[in-house]
Amino acid sequence: MAVETRLIRLDPDAPEEALLAEAGAVIRAGGLVAFPTETVYGLGGDALNAESSRRIYAAKGRPSDNPLIVHIARREDLARVADASRIPETAWRLAEAFWPGPLTMVLWADDCIPRQTTGGLDTVAVRFPSDRIAQGLIRAGGGFIAAPSANRSGRPSPTTAAHCLEDLDGRVEMILDGGQSTIGLESTIVDLTEADGIVTILRPGYVTREALAAVPGIAGVRLDPALEKQTGVPDEVRPKAPGMKYRHYAPKGALTIVMGDPMAVSQYINTSISTARAAGKRTGVLASAETSDSYAADLVCNIGARGDEEAAAHTLFGALRACDEAGIEVICAEAPGDGTSGLSAAVMNRLLKAAGYHVIKV
Ligand code: TXA
Ligand code: MG
Repeated sequence: MAVETRLIRLDPDAPEEALLAEAGAVIRAGGLVAFPTETVYGLGGDALNAESSRRIYAAKGRPSDNPLIVHIARREDLARVADASRIPETAWRLAEAFWPGPLTMVLWADDCIPRQTTGGLDTVAVRFPSDRIAQGLIRAGGGFIAAPSANRSGRPSPTTAAHCLEDLDGRVEMILDGGQSTIGLESTIVDLTEADGIVTILRPGYVTREALAAVPGIAGVRLDPALEKQTGVPDEVRPKAPGMKYRHYAPKGALTIVMGDPMAVSQYINTSISTARAAGKRTGVLASAETSDSYAADLVCNIGARGDEEAAAHTLFGALRACDEAGIEVICAEAPGDGTSGLSAAVMNRLLKAAGYHVIKV
């Protein structure tokens, strides 16, 4: 059933209380509200209401075995969402270091969380976002908002309200517009349910492996084996975050990542683009600021200066959407950074998924 979607603009620095109260009332009544966070926009519903979670899956077109993140607006609420008797000290240390902010922790779920929200799992993913509109909505909506990224399943995550409208018009009651997401990539997800007390990264993000390891008292940090696929581990390793197994972010065109010496990368891309154009294809390039003027493609997206990982994170999803909008059929992307350390690991993780792991080394 289509609903009428209201688009409401808020002041990101001082969100209007009356508008937050209206949006909160929609959540409390079992409705859906798309809202900004510092990472990407979320598609929110009441996390304690099984019916709201069912509506989120339907609106997103997402398989219902793919769990939702529960968003809170106070650190101490972690002990209400997760089973308080099984929260390790590590979780509180990480909350102290990174909350509010772009870190999601997976813990054993409290019984108050419906299994519809956790995709049937006994664990729950919890995040306390730093965005003020997000915090205001969570408080106004009753304190616990389940939200996946606010894209239709398979599309790039939304970093503006316009992206949410493209994907969700007629499927949600409200979209809150707080401008462009500052980070632009989804949160880092860590699993804290392993008996050995080691922090396992399930999805790389703005909070890097190095930053996690630097928190005092942390026993150790490892990558979920499925993430090692980036460096060549076979397909049959099952990711622990169910969502990581689905096709993601993919633009409609065929995307190839090109890695190597910058001169050789430019040359390779120019040749591919002219071959594709000669075959009558519409072409696009995701390029660094240094090279973006040098490509004769139908669309060139500047994803920031070479080595500027924050800029690449901030612009990547918008660039993939822009390729779709321009009907681009063949896309080449310069590899931003080495893809192994810091934020570059997160950017490369998303780009690899978007490209279906199609990488050329020159
Ligand atoms: O930055 C973010 O995390 C954004 C904003 C809106 O907060 N949200 C987001 O949600 O990216 P979503 O649903 O697009 O991605 C959540 C990921 C999925 O891959 C899901 O499988 C995983 O988190 N996840 C959720 N609960 C989990 C659990 N209990 N155990 C393992 N993975 C879980
Ligand atoms: Mg998502």
